[in-house]
Amino acid sequence: MTTTAGTPHTHTRRSFLTRVGAVGGASALYGTMEALGLFASPAEAAQAAGTRDFAPPRAADLPDAARARGTKVVILGAGTAGLTAAYELGKAGYDCTVLEARDRPGGRAKTIRRGDRLTDTDGVTQVCRFDEGLYFNAGPARIPNHHVTLDYCRELGVPIEALVNANAESLYFHENTGSTNYGELASTAVTHRQAKADVYGYISELLAQAADQGALDDVLSPADADRVVAFAENFGGLSGGKYLGNGRRGYVDAPGAGHDAGVVGTPPSMTAILQSQFGSRFSFEFGWDQAMMMWQPVGGMDRISAALASAVGGKRRITYNAPVTRIENTADGVRVSYRLNGRTRIVDADYCVATIPPMVLKAIPTNFSQTTKDALAVPTAANTGKIGLQYARRWWEEDDKIFGGITATNMDISGIWYPSSGFLGRKGVVVGYYSGSYTNLAVADRETRAVAQGVKIHGAKYRDELETSISIAWPKEPYSLGGWVSWPGGRGAAYDHLLRPDGNTYFAGDHLSYLIAWQAGAFESARLAVTALHERVAATAAAS
Ligand code: PHE
Repeated sequence: MTTTAGTPHTHTRRSFLTRVGAVGGASALYGTMEALGLFASPAEAAQAAGTRDFAPPRAADLPDAARARGTKVVILGAGTAGLTAAYELGKAGYDCTVLEARDRPGGRAKTIRRGDRLTDTDGVTQVCRFDEGLYFNAGPARIPNHHVTLDYCRELGVPIEALVNANAESLYFHENTGSTNYGELASTAVTHRQAKADVYGYISELLAQAADQGALDDVLSPADADRVVAFAENFGGLSGGKYLGNGRRGYVDAPGAGHDAGVVGTPPSMTAILQSQFGSRFSFEFGWDQAMMMWQPVGGMDRISAALASAVGGKRRITYNAPVTRIENTADGVRVSYRLNGRTRIVDADYCVATIPPMVLKAIPTNFSQTTKDALAVPTAANTGKIGLQYARRWWEEDDKIFGGITATNMDISGIWYPSSGFLGRKGVVVGYYSGSYTNLAVADRETRAVAQGVKIHGAKYRDELETSISIAWPKEPYSLGGWVSWPGGRGAAYDHLLRPDGNTYFAGDHLSYLIAWQAGAFESARLAVTALHERVAATAAAS
């Protein structure tokens, strides 16, 4: 809210909140207070949002404790949501059966290693030729501190390590396009370190000048103007109000012993820095979900689903290679048909939790209501994919001092991810694109195109030292048919409908959360479905 000096504030913070409360009710008020940072602690904010108060189902919640053991639940999909549903229901003793179309748990939480075969919906097969011990996370690859995913890692004993999401040494690279000219820094790889020093430096210089010369006098008292100048000096690394460049941007000749003070390069002009648009990249790491620290399981993202699968009882509970062919709500339960070893089989249960992605589920015959069928057809598949490039040498570490992190570009590879494990080792796998632009290219063309773009940044070694690659296109991945979903027009009636069961069938998955494209969405959604199912079983038991 802006006010003019000398005019009393027309809206106090309190009156603004009162008005929000009157219009939007308590939840809008809480949301606003959260947004304004008015809660005493993050825990309090989380409680108000109502997302962290999950209590696993307990047999003791039911009047007859044996009832959970006698209640059969068939869970469709052994991805994060399905396994979580089985895991949490299992705590109360529910009799869970998980049907999984693939030969492994995890769904999109896929880590690709030597020998893995990928056959896409076009029938094209790739086999991973990485060296033993090397891998890349083809699906989810980073976990923020505050996601419930880490609570499951703790509970299941899955060790984690830092995922370097932002690194001073990773690069920015903007090449001119038909519509944008990036100036003298176009097609120049610049470190995050240098871009920050120069952008913060020049913008701070402008701010200091504006405050010092009185341009902000209508909004700043003289004392506050002085404080703004002091902030700008410090934040921008200014000397007497000017940005001249300094060691923050790195050295053309690094400092050393004796009289070797190092040599700082001269920054490009303010115009060149503004025209480069590197500043537009910085807010990425300001995101709630993208700020360091970030995490990954040691050994690959699929360590989480492997731990979940074993916690639910492994093959005793999970049937692999079992694609679902029909889902039918019956008078007192659910009947699910699936294929296994060339034969159709049937499982009868009291309840079903369907975690199959909507793009896949909508094509399976069911006796769901027409509203449910229509709702399943609403979300659209996100087009995304990745390529893992195995290099004979960790040149990014040896030559460029890049230890993890992501180079951001305006080319269609989007970014280059340097591995956050195996530091100082011999070989490594770099993620050469994270993009939907490669989905319809032939496998070999994906590599050629991604490598050509990497060469622009890293030079010929990006091609010459490449040993092997493998790529995934999520819209062509059987049983996923997309990287994640979007809800056209937002989460509307269809979304709302799928939060409720159709007969005895519940739905869960990251698509039914505000954490789409995060495993946390699958965990939270499974928790919600499990809670609703358990409450219903308890209510039914109490009534009988
Ligand atoms: N979780 C995915 C990722 O971090 C997709 C995503 C990107 C989700 C950015 C939200 C924001 O890459």
